Amino acid sequence: MKLSQTSASPVAAGLALLASAAGVAAAPAATCDLPTTYKWNSTGALAQPKNGWTSLKDFTHVPYNGQHLVYGSMVSGGSYGSMNFGLFTDWNGMGSVSQNKMSQAAVAPTLFYFAPKKVWILAHQWGPTSFSYRTSSDPTNPNGWSSPQPLFTGTISGSSTGVIDQTVIGDDTNMYLFFAGDNGKIYRASMPIGNFPGSFGSSSTVVMSDSTNNLFEAVQVYKLQGQTKYLMIVEAIGSQGRYFRSFTATSLGGSWTPNAATESSPFAGKANSGATWTNDISHGDLIRVTNDQTMTVDPCNLQLLYQGRAPNSGGSYNNLPYRPGLLTLQR
Ligand SMILES: *[C@@H]1O[C@H](CO)[C@@H](O)[C@H](O)[C@H]1NC(C)=O
Repeated sequence: MKLSQTSASPVAAGLALLASAAGVAAAPAATCDLPTTYKWNSTGALAQPKNGWTSLKDFTHVPYNGQHLVYGSMVSGGSYGSMNFGLFTDWNGMGSVSQNKMSQAAVAPTLFYFAPKKVWILAHQWGPTSFSYRTSSDPTNPNGWSSPQPLFTGTISGSSTGVIDQTVIGDDTNMYLFFAGDNGKIYRASMPIGNFPGSFGSSSTVVMSDSTNNLFEAVQVYKLQGQTKYLMIVEAIGSQGRYFRSFTATSLGGSWTPNAATESSPFAGKANSGATWTNDISHGDLIRVTNDQTMTVDPCNLQLLYQGRAPNSGGSYNNLPYRPGLLTLQR
């Protein structure tokens, strides 16, 4: 573990202990630089789809009262829907909790608590508008969400899927929407934070452009805890399966610089995942330290909840047998 100079010394640690023993505010938590070379270990498949379902996909995760709350897409009979898992405390408990289908689908969901208005948000694709959001006071109830409201109403050109795989993140002044198009482009829209929840409108800006395979889908954006730095991961199509490339920026409205962006040395992929049950490291969510719109992750303790599948599985894309797995960064 690489610690920052401000808190790495035994003296600083000792002072923090003394401070907390005396009831004084402790020193801020240690911060870590992001690596540029990543190495992970992996669990096996953490859960099997319930009877009648083909796959579990597109996970979004928040910490919830000390437990894990996960939503995702599911496929049954070749058709997409969405679901949540019952709460669980340890990852090895994920396979034994309930899998609850939502009566109204919220495919490829993004779950967070919007702290300024004290409301839970579930953003998703394939609703009535390009992207939609729904609100709730109890995110554990898969059918307690409002009807879909417009999150984004724009369209993009040069994409056979149209807009896909939204994520939402806020700083102190703005909310940002990032999304993909299965077309080598990552898009951004924004609004003043006081207007959220609401629609980002219909216009967007291309923030990155590359080949279709290099910037395919499943974009996620996070704040690094204790730093004014943001991490974007984007799913790419490689010769050895799906993998994630990473980028950083110093502001959410700014430009993105490659961090670990090749298939041979990716953010996470077959080359460095440590997983043996899957070649694909595909659509998921980094484990956040808060549940709110800041989408904060701790770079000292990175974990990625991802979807993987048996290397020899094939057939139509919608029926590929995706399952959840968890990567833990090795430092
Ligand atoms: C992965 O490594 C962490 C330590 O970084 C360890 O606690 C965990 O048990 C390991 N998980 C697996 C699945 O090997």
